[in-house]
Amino acid sequence: MPSTTPYAPGRFLFGGDYNPEQWPRETRAEDIALMRRAKVNTATIGVFSWAVLEPSEGRYDAAWLDEVVGELAAAGIGFFLATPTASPPPWFTLAHPDALPIRDDGTPVLHGSRDTYAISAPAYRAAARAVAGFLARRYGDHPGLRGWHVHNEYGTIDHGPHAARAFRVWLEARYGSIAALNEAWSTAFWSQRYGDWDEILPPRQTQYLHNPAQLVDFKRFNSDEMLAAFTEQRDEIRASGSAAPITSNLMLPTWNHLEQWSWSDAQDLVSIDHYLDTTGPDGETHVAYGSDLTRSWAGGPWVLMEQNATGIRVGDRVFAKGPDRMIRNSLGYIARGAQSSLFFQWRASAGGAELWHGALVPHAGADTEVFASVVRLGELLERIGEAAQPPATGPVVEAEIGIVWDAEGWWSWETPHLPTDAVGYSEEVRAAHRALWLSGRAVDFVRPGADATGYSMLVVPALYAMTRATAEWLERYVQTGGNLVVTFGSGIADESQRVIVGGYPGMLRSLLGVRGEQIVPLADDDAVTLDNGLEGVVWTELLHAESAETLARYGSGALSGRPAITRCPSGSGTATYVSTKLAPGSLNAFLADLATEFGVAPVVDGAAALGVEAVRRRGAEADYLFLMHHGDSPVRLDGSGTDLVSGASDSIPLEAGAVAVVRETGRDWSIRRL
Ligand code: GAL
Repeated sequence: MPSTTPYAPGRFLFGGDYNPEQWPRETRAEDIALMRRAKVNTATIGVFSWAVLEPSEGRYDAAWLDEVVGELAAAGIGFFLATPTASPPPWFTLAHPDALPIRDDGTPVLHGSRDTYAISAPAYRAAARAVAGFLARRYGDHPGLRGWHVHNEYGTIDHGPHAARAFRVWLEARYGSIAALNEAWSTAFWSQRYGDWDEILPPRQTQYLHNPAQLVDFKRFNSDEMLAAFTEQRDEIRASGSAAPITSNLMLPTWNHLEQWSWSDAQDLVSIDHYLDTTGPDGETHVAYGSDLTRSWAGGPWVLMEQNATGIRVGDRVFAKGPDRMIRNSLGYIARGAQSSLFFQWRASAGGAELWHGALVPHAGADTEVFASVVRLGELLERIGEAAQPPATGPVVEAEIGIVWDAEGWWSWETPHLPTDAVGYSEEVRAAHRALWLSGRAVDFVRPGADATGYSMLVVPALYAMTRATAEWLERYVQTGGNLVVTFGSGIADESQRVIVGGYPGMLRSLLGVRGEQIVPLADDDAVTLDNGLEGVVWTELLHAESAETLARYGSGALSGRPAITRCPSGSGTATYVSTKLAPGSLNAFLADLATEFGVAPVVDGAAALGVEAVRRRGAEADYLFLMHHGDSPVRLDGSGTDLVSGASDSIPLEAGAVAVVRETGRDWSIRRL
């Protein structure tokens, strides 16, 4: 295990991906001077440097990297060193054409971009281990090394012969016998019965619908296979004697290739890359969502490895982020447990595929508003440095509400021919999180099976497939006094995507005290009103309340008069079921009301309604109230504490767009518009 930590006491990590190999040598001197000016203390180097590091098989050229780490160290700037294995060089793919990935339609993916590797190809795995070992032996005990950044965003999916071989091995380990696989995959349907492991293929293009159990198992397999590749590199690094912590940057929000809980177990620290997907106000919600997820995966502090300093790519163009938003977002991640504000990338590339990506030093250079905002952020992070020391015990952010996160839930909703294809797992999880964010409450995400006893309320959004163990865990949570809130589409199928027959949601029927007869999807332009005024869209259900009481009925549409929302007491807790997809405004109101009912207060009452995001981050010596003002008119907070940003005490004014980080001497705050 690592004996060093990337975190220096009293300091957040600040900087980002640094790719000096793209520039003439002279540029480096300017880079270092600018980094010092902006108080940058961390560079992530080597991420895609394989071709310069190993110009031909087995011949390494690290003289340039020696110089880079030397210059960074001389300037007091630490570094994450990446293994470059996300981008095999052209010589590698020419020497090992079998190590290129193959798409599901059989098309080979050739080099010329990045991430062109077949994860199960022995030649790729050996080359990756070799280059990781080389770097570990050369730099593993370098005093500037903050940590290892293995690979970059694992996620290339191969459907070729290597994948087929490894998938079969994985399936045999999971099922033990071909009969068990046939059973789990329901292969009696459509004459899919397999007589031997060798008959099984990765899901490739086929005539009509894929087998859903095969699709989800292939997802599981890929997550495990990539984790095995990561683990090999990790172990290679450890074998070199390097004591630096090891991570691999996960990708949010679009990547759904990895089962993040098991990945987090295998890493010394958890890091993510996070890119906003909207220019609108929901971007701030998104920062909170990514941060709460990652903190939960990590079980504590985590590293934001990449964000974009200046741009938000939506569809086919990049919109400006703006300096205030960049700073508010940076603090938003930190408030929720990030130890860093790192960016992709330090200097905007002049050429190559991502030359129009945002950077801390834009094309126009340092004499720019962008760089001025980077300097501002560096100063700000220095001012709030004391908050960087996490508490010795207990969580870095306290939350009384949990939302269950299960990567497999996402995979299930991607199988074909469900009652409607208009449901997306991450959209549902995010909608639940957004509702609670808008109500100003702190939220954790929870791994199925984890200790949930500390949560007054546990939300299970649209978890279509689940194991019997997960269902029993939810039962225990309720029995012992928890308030469970399950939303539509949950608990219908087992982990092999087989419906539990006898009434929906079979896995949770007795816990919820309901029996669903039929799923009744709605057209895109349709909606139903419930008799409590809430609105349902997309999904409704013909439901019988058996041991549950009915909290709301469908008030319009084909199911008018039937139960829509139910509650079943059980043990000393309650289990609420929402059988329709609540429209956004309805979901927001519904979950906020439940939080109030179950005794969970906002962090600062009334703040969210004024556009102020309030998050309490616990520190070693004190608690820090982070305030990010996303609204448009100035406010004042009254309470007990000192703002590390402005120096104000007890009565803290906050301009629209501004931030404050208050060292608290009390938790009782009020807020008003000025
Ligand atoms: C990340 C990736 C970076 C860069 C960035 C662009 O996902 O790790 O290398 O491509 O996206 O947004």
